[in-house]
Amino acid sequence: MESAVRESSGGVSPVLIPMLFVWPCGGTSVFMSGSFNRWSQLLPMSPVEGCPMVFQTICSIPPGCHQYKFFVDGEWRHDEHQPYMTSEFGIVNTIFLTSERNSFSGVPAPNVPPPPMDVDNNEASVHLPQVSGSTFTEAAGTILEADIIASRLRVSAFLSAHTAYELLPESGKVVALDINLPVKQAFHILYEQGISMVPLWNGAQFVGVLSAMDFILILKELTNRGSNLAEEELETHTISAWKEGKAYLKRQVDEQGRAFSKPLVHVGPDDNLKDVALKILQNNVASVPVLHSPSNDGSFQQLLHMASLSGILKCICRYFRSCSSSLPVLQLPICTIPIGTWVPKIGESNRRPLAMMRPNASLSSALNLLIEAQVSSIPVVDENDSLLDIYSRSDITALAKDKSYTRISLNEMTVHQALQLGQDSYCSFELSRRCQMCLKSDSLHKVIERLANPGVRRLIVVEAGSKRVEGIISLSDVFKFLLS
Ligand SMILES: *[C@@H]1O[C@H](CO)[C@@H](O)[C@H](O)[C@H]1NC(C)=O
Ligand SMILES: *[C@@H]1O[C@H](CO)[C@@H](O)[C@H](O)[C@H]1NC(C)=O
Repeated sequence: MESAVRESSGGVSPVLIPMLFVWPCGGTSVFMSGSFNRWSQLLPMSPVEGCPMVFQTICSIPPGCHQYKFFVDGEWRHDEHQPYMTSEFGIVNTIFLTSERNSFSGVPAPNVPPPPMDVDNNEASVHLPQVSGSTFTEAAGTILEADIIASRLRVSAFLSAHTAYELLPESGKVVALDINLPVKQAFHILYEQGISMVPLWNGAQFVGVLSAMDFILILKELTNRGSNLAEEELETHTISAWKEGKAYLKRQVDEQGRAFSKPLVHVGPDDNLKDVALKILQNNVASVPVLHSPSNDGSFQQLLHMASLSGILKCICRYFRSCSSSLPVLQLPICTIPIGTWVPKIGESNRRPLAMMRPNASLSSALNLLIEAQVSSIPVVDENDSLLDIYSRSDITALAKDKSYTRISLNEMTVHQALQLGQDSYCSFELSRRCQMCLKSDSLHKVIERLANPGVRRLIVVEAGSKRVEGIISLSDVFKFLLS
């Protein structure tokens, strides 16, 4: 044994012995870290099939005395059934490995006698006061912070070096609307094309966009004025009339901080992806038109594409897929990093609550919430806050189906009815496509891969089993986190 200790502390690089580490006390996100990697890494531990409380990982470590500790759901823990001691990092588990492979491999089982510790370590446990792991937590916090900073720099460098050209599909159509179309027709086109945002053309150039939010405001305005959602109202008004001439509409919109009259937000094909992403975030839009002006004075414009965060995330995933270790933050569970919107815990009174509603809430209250809370979607939950469905801005276009808007009252229709309207059949496939869920223990990598799929704009974080809503992570949240 003495020779083994000398071997590991000597200059010769020792053999590495694969060891199985086990955490037997449950949790959702479990990691370990140890002196053998200088406490510089959090190694993810995987649940053992059939044993819900047990997590394991294999780590190759050199012979000698080692300390290690588990990071379970955000807290540093040790396993009382395995040898442990007090160190400068609080209580840590210990393991002693000789260089003979067979002598000590496998699970460090409870019945193994406590490992002999070298004199220094024993002294440490006697003289150092227990610092209840604060030094250790601080150290680990610094490691997480360093991972996040390094990952942000790499993503930022990648995005700055690539342009919007790379977002263009090989084929595909882009829809644009003439600003003189009646609003009603625009509404139907958005519904039929399954899109929530379309650029507007005035015969000479692109002058703005029409989005699902416009329809929410238009329908609300008609309701407020006491009109039924009369077909003629929508029929006789052109898009430009709504955009330009309506002082009352403008006033309302300005109060919400979204002026209709502001110039068209767009990007060029040579703009780098970081600028494109920042433009989308800063203007709080789902996508921006990519416009190409072959002539110098910009008098002629071609609409190449609608650039969205989803497309940019796809580029990031493709680029880093083969070298995901260069983005260490991807391995972290989403609950350990500052990303997304979460239901505040008891005592966190300063946090803004996560907007949620019951299925029997009126459609008008849902639309008010979408406007006031400035969110793009609201989880629909039961009395226990378990997820039933989700209502998003873009669901407003479902009211165009069979001209439903002519028959309904926003105050009387429930959110549940409004969601059923948009579907041919209220089937579970449709529901699961809309309500994409994840767990707070899921890695950022898993979350990002799913958000890069077309049509997925957000994941609802739920508690396993109960589906109780714990938070939301949207495409914009991912970019706000990566680009901050
Ligand atoms: C929805 O239903 C619950 C009971 O299930 C009731 O307490 C609540 O008042 C209803 N809300 C509306 C807006 O009808
Ligand atoms: C809500 O939780 C309570 C207690 O766990 C349970 O009895 C009830 O059935 C739950 N309600 C729904 C709608 O699942």
